[in-house]
Amino acid sequence: HHLTQVSAASYSTFALPATLADLYLCSTLSELQQLALPVCPYVLGEGSNTIFLADMQHPVLRYLAANKQVQQSLDGAVLLHVEAGHNWHQLVQWTVVQGWWGLENLALIPGSVGAAPVQNIGAYGVEFADCCDYVDFFHWQSRTVQRLTSTECRFDYRDSVFKTQLAGQGIIVAVGLRLRQQGNAITGYKGLEHLTAQSPVADVMQAVIDVRQSKLPDPALIANCGSFFKNPVLSQQAYSRLHQQYPTVPAYPQTNGQIKIAAGWLIEQAGFKGKGIGGISCYEKQALVLVNRGGTADELRQLIEAIQQQVQSQFGVTLEPEVRLLG
Ligand code: EPU
Repeated sequence: HHLTQVSAASYSTFALPATLADLYLCSTLSELQQLALPVCPYVLGEGSNTIFLADMQHPVLRYLAANKQVQQSLDGAVLLHVEAGHNWHQLVQWTVVQGWWGLENLALIPGSVGAAPVQNIGAYGVEFADCCDYVDFFHWQSRTVQRLTSTECRFDYRDSVFKTQLAGQGIIVAVGLRLRQQGNAITGYKGLEHLTAQSPVADVMQAVIDVRQSKLPDPALIANCGSFFKNPVLSQQAYSRLHQQYPTVPAYPQTNGQIKIAAGWLIEQAGFKGKGIGGISCYEKQALVLVNRGGTADELRQLIEAIQQQVQSQFGVTLEPEVRLLG
């Protein structure tokens, strides 16, 4: 399918007014291979992490293939092959109904399976990388599919090779996931303490759903793209300086010795929680989430700048957007 001059508001859960000049919808790999576009289009999943700041002349593509297959069930491991257009949360629910472990902490994250590896989605102590076996990537130039191992994907906090070396080179068409038939609940996160390691996988998923619903706005009701900024990762030295002045800053030590701090806390301390510019504001229950109640791209730009400047001058910390801003 090729659509022209479509409203971008229906293709981004932030729903700013803009127009997409050319939108291509492909349902199979062979359709994708036959699509003769000179440039690699911008790839869109369900638009839950992409914001269109202006009308887009560059072509945009959605890949809708959504089959899934159990490849192998061996030694307590389950290998799944899932096409990129499958909805993420429906996949999580299906695996949990099968009684398989691995994706339960990633319940209710909006978006498609194909978008999950790009920013290495993560929540409640688990990341996509933890269950990833491989990612199949269609190279636009060579028209071939390359299978990248989890290591080759170079997953990091909200980062992967798909955001760096492979950005703009092609499109993720499928992922391979390695799940387990037996498992223990990962319960370290605030809101999950009532669980035990022996809790059934369905209870873990439900607890995650409950925490998310209690503080994150449902994009179907209030336009948003989840966390707007990344949690900044500081050196030990920079963290010590900040901690001396602000002993209550929430901090999460990383395996490489660096310290991740909570951007939502910085933004709340900077006075932005529940506040905004025009129709764009910081959500009342989670300052890291920006919500759009009839705002404009200009108001969003102004709010981003105001938050970044205030956090920089008050804490000496630079906030980087976590969402993908186009245009
Ligand atoms: N906090 C505040 N004020 C706020 C918001 C948060 O003080 O307005 C404090 C909280 O009290 C807590 C800390 O900041 O001590 C962390 O907050 P929270 O647990 O809500 O998580 P987060 O760090 O803000 C990250 C992810 C979320 C993910 C949650 C749960 C990023 C950018 N965001 O948020 O992911 O769901 O952890 O694991 O890493 C997303 O990426 O879109 C997303 C929602």
